[in-house]
This record gives sequence, structure tokens and C-alpha cells, in this order.
Amino acid sequence: MQRVNALRPLLPKGTLTFYKDQLLITKGSGQFLWDSAGKKYLDMFGGIVTVSVGHCHPKVNAALKEQTEKLWHTTSIYHTEPIYEYAQALTATFPDPLKVVFFVNSGSEANDLAIALARNHTGRFDMLSMRNGYHGMTQTVLGATNLGTWKPTFPHGFSVYKFMNVDPYKGVWGGTKCRDCPVEIKNRKCDCKEGQCSATSKYIDQFEETLAYDFPASSGPAGFLVESIQGVGGTVQYPKGFLKRAFEAMKKRGGLCISDEVQTGFGRLGSHFWGFQTQDATPDIVTMAKGIGNGFPMGAVVTTKEIADSFARSLYFNTFGGNPLASAVGKAVLDVIEEEKLQENCLKVGEYFLKQLAAIDSSLIGDVRGKGLMVGVELIDEEGNPMPAARMASIFEGVKNRGVLIGKGGLQGNTLRIKPPMCIDKKDVDMAVQAIDDAIRKGQ
Ligand SMILES: Cc1ncc(COP(=O)(O)O)c(C=O)c1O
Repeated sequence: MQRVNALRPLLPKGTLTFYKDQLLITKGSGQFLWDSAGKKYLDMFGGIVTVSVGHCHPKVNAALKEQTEKLWHTTSIYHTEPIYEYAQALTATFPDPLKVVFFVNSGSEANDLAIALARNHTGRFDMLSMRNGYHGMTQTVLGATNLGTWKPTFPHGFSVYKFMNVDPYKGVWGGTKCRDCPVEIKNRKCDCKEGQCSATSKYIDQFEETLAYDFPASSGPAGFLVESIQGVGGTVQYPKGFLKRAFEAMKKRGGLCISDEVQTGFGRLGSHFWGFQTQDATPDIVTMAKGIGNGFPMGAVVTTKEIADSFARSLYFNTFGGNPLASAVGKAVLDVIEEEKLQENCLKVGEYFLKQLAAIDSSLIGDVRGKGLMVGVELIDEEGNPMPAARMASIFEGVKNRGVLIGKGGLQGNTLRIKPPMCIDKKDVDMAVQAIDDAIRKGQ
């Protein structure tokens, strides 16, 4: 550890690391990690929602090893078997007409390309994204990332307009039953009938006003980039039906709808494979990364033939996208999700997790939310304000010291983010809930 501290200046100062006493992780297996001192941790963050099927999964390891013996790289100027096999398996998870895939190397790159596709196809430039959304770190995509904590001080992606955050817990409108979540919102009431949500309608009115006021009447926006549940923003779920209606309004103005599934995809939400499906929304373009490769650096953009074909007005090239190693890993991840019924596990264990967290008797928990194994716990102080950073850090450190790793997010950093490998079981949930409960109770 001493050696690592001495070498720290070799990495950029601005890179984020967690914890006062830094962890040096040396080994991983399933939902567990070990540090350099041999201490075992239950990993409830999965390398930021990236380790989808479990650390060092034997089947994924074997697929990668087998491919390394055959062929590492050719680039897209030659065809390979793995890219076609994987393209077929990946596109099979999408409804028609989302059947063409561009392979890239990260989530930022996927969103960057998605914006380019929208601009190219519509011949327009202006984009729309949402406050509290996170879409990555390339200069274009930074224009669509709307969290002050992640905004750079240098000029970046211009011409991306911001829609208000659609947050039924803290936003302008919201009510008890707004969310598709086994846990209701505590601090708000509503008398909406089943199948109706007045908060959704009010946000949609604003969305339509944004489209009318912010974009040229003679043309319109190129597109709308949005997460199906906000990840870095603190697991914020929109009221039911919002995405479906927002996408319909955007399409009426001729803009393309991009669903960022970098955190929400691959069955994590339990009821559906893709987040947009949970809102019955129909995107034109879907971006994905993180869980796609269980930690292997890769990403993808899936769209319609029409949109992909219009991009062929100019050549598209990506040295590494869809290379044989990535394709072999991606295919093995899809196989494991299916064989081990991990989507079903997310549904069952996720519901249990949310209910157990909601049962913690603490006035410092303002909100428990999420779907499947994408969970957020928003902490507040005695006055109902966001839990101050120092107290938050202490609780966060306390959870780690009890052997459980989680993340945090939201503009004020006061939401615990829990997004483990999708293979966890109820015993793991009990351990995590116990650690969180205890750390909140003791303040450390
Ligand atoms: C929703 C979302 N989109 C895009 C990205 C960017 O992905 P990457 O870090 O692989 O570039 C992230 C990363 O956290 C993300 O959470």
C-alpha cells in the first residue's frame, strides 16, 4: 500500500478514488473482492455497474482465453466470425426495427456516436438532454452531462439544451405512487388513480413547452439523449410513462430518441432486458457499455437500418470496436445472463433488497428507490436537507469497514448507490442491509 501511495502522483489528480484509507484490490470472484491485506468484501457496486455476471466469471474467462489463442485483432477492415456471432446475439435482444449495431469501446464513445447519428440523420444540430443526467466524458458528450460536479471548466459540447429533472421525490412534481418501484415515496402524497400519473402529465407539458420554445419552429431538435433511470444522478426514476410520452413528443418534432442503457441494460432492472422497455418507450437509438463486457472495455450503439444507412453517407471507422476478444466476451456475457437466469434473479433479489432497505427504521433515510438491482438510498439530515458531505463520507467509510462496498451519487453526493453483480443472493442482501443500517445508526 505504501508503494501505491508513493506512485499515486503518476495518475491524474482529478481522478476520483473512494475512501480515506484507499483500497488496493487484488482479486475478485463472483460478488466478492479481496484487498492487498487479504480482507474480503461483498461488492455491491460491481466496478460502477460494470461487473454484470460476477468477477472473473469462469465461462467469460474461458471464452476470452479461447479467443486469445485464436485471434486478437484484425480491425473492421476484415470480417471475423466472432463479430457476426455477437452482432446476431446482441441484436436478438432488441425489438424491431432496432437491428443494426455499431461496436465501440466505452459508454462515452457510444453516446458520442449516437449524437452524431442523430445529427447526421436529421440534418439538425441542437440536442436535448436532462438535468442530473450523466452520459460520459468526451467533449461532445460532456455537453449532455448535466451534473455540476462533473462539468468541466473548459468549453465543451455546445448546443445541447437541458430539460428540467424529472424526479418524483425531489423534483417540482411527484407523488407516492409515481414510480415503478416496490417502495413508495414517503414525503409526497397523491390521489392519482391506477394507470394515471398527474406528475407525468405536468412534466410532459413542460417537455412540450421546451420543444416549442428552445428549438427553431422551422426545423426542430436533432434528438433527445436520456438515461432510462439516472445512474450517477442517484438512481432517479421518472414517473411512470414519462419516457414513452416524451419520446412521442420528440418524434412528433422530428427528433430522434436515444436511450442511454449504459447502467440500466442487460437485465439489471429485472422485469425487462432494457430500461426503455420498462417505460414502454420506443427509442430510435440505444447506447450500452459497462455491463456489456463484465469489465472488458467495450460498448455498442444499436439503431435502425434506416438511421445506420444514412450514416453511410460518410465512412465509419473504429479500430477496436467489435474486435474478436470483445465479441467473444460480449457473447459469453449474454449466454451467462440467460443460462444463470440473472435477469430473473435481479427481479427477485432486487425486490427483496428494496423492501429490506425501506424497512430500516431511520429518519435519516429520505428515500429508497430503484428497480431490480439498480438501487438508491437517499440520506438526509435531521432537518430534511441532503446529508452533509462529511457525515455522508463517514457513513460511507463505515459501510466499507463492515466489509461491504457500495457507491454514492446525486448532485450533493448523498445517495448511496447499490448496483452489484447480478448474481447476488438474499444472504448478500441481508449482509449489506445490516452494514448500511448499522453505519447510519452509528454515523460511521
Ligand atoms: C449512463 C451512463 N452513460 C455513459 C457513461 C460513460 O461511460 P464510460 O465511462 O464507459 O465512458 C456512464 C458512465 O458512468 C454512464 O453511467
